[in-house]
Amino acid sequence: MRNKEKPVLCSMETPIGTDVAQAAALLRAGAVVAMPTETVYGLAANAFDEAAVLRIFQVKQRPSFDPLIVHVRDREQLSPLVARLPREAEALMEHFWPGPLTLVLPKTGRVPDLVTSGLDTVAVRMPAHPVAQALLRAVDFPLAAPSANPFGYVSPTSAQHVADQLGGKVPYILDGGPCTVGVESTILGWEQEAGAWLLYRPGGTPVEAIAEVIGAVGAAQPGLLPASPGMLESHYAPGTPVHAGDVPQLLEAHRGKRIGVISFRQHHGAAHNEVLSVKGDLAEAASRLFAALRKLDRSDAEVILAEIFPQEGLGVAINDRLRRAAAKR
Ligand code: TXA
Ligand code: MG
Repeated sequence: MRNKEKPVLCSMETPIGTDVAQAAALLRAGAVVAMPTETVYGLAANAFDEAAVLRIFQVKQRPSFDPLIVHVRDREQLSPLVARLPREAEALMEHFWPGPLTLVLPKTGRVPDLVTSGLDTVAVRMPAHPVAQALLRAVDFPLAAPSANPFGYVSPTSAQHVADQLGGKVPYILDGGPCTVGVESTILGWEQEAGAWLLYRPGGTPVEAIAEVIGAVGAAQPGLLPASPGMLESHYAPGTPVHAGDVPQLLEAHRGKRIGVISFRQHHGAAHNEVLSVKGDLAEAASRLFAALRKLDRSDAEVILAEIFPQEGLGVAINDRLRRAAAKR
């Protein structure tokens, strides 16, 4: 925001605060603001303002072929965005909204091409975080928002994570505390030609829960889906190399190195070992995953070794993120 009374921030400092009205005023003025959601922090702008959306891509250094998710406050806000709602969309929204489920649906002509990378579909989601909801109520437009991290890096699950990487690049970080879900939303795409739903990205809503509502959904094959660029293999990656697999074997293979470990319930005796849930709760583990990756990335560990988690519930999203983090090199 260009306020003549106040100097424009030009240091590496970005204020972190809880002032929803200030964040809303900045958004109305066309700025990009970091906002909390229950999954991860997002980098939000008015979805109908192309100049503001362009700023998101600049701040994130995100390639323009990677489309954004549009966040809505209620179903009414969908009508200028979504051209057609497939039958099951109703039941999905009923069960999982607000919450960590994104639906990719046919878009209207009003959605800027920049938001959708020129695709004829738009990704929409209604966040459950009360601060995100308050922000959406304080403005009269939906918010396009990718995760608030530089492209390809681990998503932020606290306001401080955002400040660590994007401080000085956005005018305000709206603080909503640590994210309770901790992995990004599940993305389901409506494949019009096949007349079927496909899982584009596992995330905060378990596929088992979705199957209970609309039946089993097929998984999109990475590489076969230019429609979902977030499926890029090397994504969510810290700077330190990550290897996922059997940790005792990996410890043996990396003997002599400074090692960081990410494990589910059990400590493996490494100097830096992040145990994500002593009580064996996958949802708790998911909520701690990205903070653990960041912490190990900042430590002196030369390599991060991660367990494979049980492939069920939130474990599916955890394994997906770890596999992608490991695909970096
Ligand atoms: O939980 C979340 O989803 C978080 C919070 C901030 O809402 N957002 C998030 O956004 O993870 P982002 O930009 O990091 O990931 C969005 C992904 C894209 O990479 C792409 O794969 C998919 O959503 N996507 C968006 N629009 C799409 C479309 N029209 N068709 C297919 N995939 C789409
Ligand atoms: Mg992202």
